[in-house]
Amino acid sequence: MHAVTIREPGGPEALAWTEVPDPEPGPGEVLLDVVATAVNRADLLQRQGRYDPPPGASPYPGLECSGRIAALGPDVTGWEIGDEVVALLAGGGYAERVAVPAGQVMRRPQGISLRDAGGLAEVACTVWSNVFLLANLRPEELLLVHGGASGIGTTAIQLAKAVGARVAVTAGTKDKLERCRELGADVLINYREDDFVEAVREAGGAAGGADVILDNMGAKYLGRNVDALATNGRLVIIGMQGGIKAELDIAKLLGKRAAVLATSLRARPVAEKAAIVAAVAEHVTPLVDSGAFRLVIDRVLPITDVADAHRVLEASEHVGKVLLEVSR
Ligand SMILES: NC(=O)c1ccc[n+]([C@@H]2O[C@H](COP(=O)([O-])OP(=O)(O)OC[C@H]3O[C@@H](n4cnc5c(N)ncnc54)[C@H](OP(=O)(O)O)[C@@H]3O)[C@@H](O)[C@H]2O)c1
Repeated sequence: MHAVTIREPGGPEALAWTEVPDPEPGPGEVLLDVVATAVNRADLLQRQGRYDPPPGASPYPGLECSGRIAALGPDVTGWEIGDEVVALLAGGGYAERVAVPAGQVMRRPQGISLRDAGGLAEVACTVWSNVFLLANLRPEELLLVHGGASGIGTTAIQLAKAVGARVAVTAGTKDKLERCRELGADVLINYREDDFVEAVREAGGAAGGADVILDNMGAKYLGRNVDALATNGRLVIIGMQGGIKAELDIAKLLGKRAAVLATSLRARPVAEKAAIVAAVAEHVTPLVDSGAFRLVIDRVLPITDVADAHRVLEASEHVGKVLLEVSR
């Protein structure tokens, strides 16, 4: 088969569509013929040599895909050859074939094409596991999403609105904020011009701020995120775009009875990923089928244009997901 390999750590030109050995499905795994995959910010770090795949994972980039089941490994039940599925991967999605634990695979929702579903798993699993399973966002609560126009952000806005929460977002341009508004965001904050703490405190009313914050920035925003939290607020950090080390004012946390949480999806054990995928199949699939959640797709490029796709993400030209089509 072919897969995208990284010639040596570096820029997008380091990516090459290369002939490599086919993967074999191990016990409990299924083999997929990949139809589409998508670019995640973590892929850029892996390409630069700053984010190695976890032990045992495929060396090729790609944290998600859609495709058809091509073979079943030993001890797999409940799936048949040809089933159309969406998969959450620890790596290897940028390829014609990938082997994945059967628990990390779910049926393609009827409300999205098999190609477009190639960008569904990572955002749906990340948002559902962090905003709902971990931070327990409830109806009427206020969610602040940093990077509202990202793949993660456009998903978080829609899923939060679907459960009846209010949503504030940050983004870097007027156009991106307008796209967030169209998706249902209630409070729009241009992080280049406005102070998000003030805007979120105002929107939070008596609660004093955001009940849940989904943060992609890490260190740079830690202090201000704590300032923007409501009493009993939950800050969930999922990205480190603004660095990894910062000071935390514990007195402020105590006073608000607030929590700071941080997670990474990729490194979780298979059983935890399977539980998240099952929760997404139960809760997000019906929203895709009803049209309450539509995956926002910025563009679809052939997998051989993977370097261009990385350039788009690097320049933050996109809104939503950048997909890579592998086959039809
Ligand atoms: N922990 C996990 O398990 C996990 C899983 C998936 C993703 N993530 C993380 O989630 C984040 C989004 O991922 P993605 O793949 O959806 O990436 P993406 O589409 O490339 O989005 C990156 C976003 O960062 C925003 N941004 C840049 N500077 C900002 C600032 N100062 N304030 C607020 N936002 C800022 C950009 O906003 P503008 O374009 O408007 O400037 C852009 O929307 C990334 O940090 C990624 O690493 C974590």
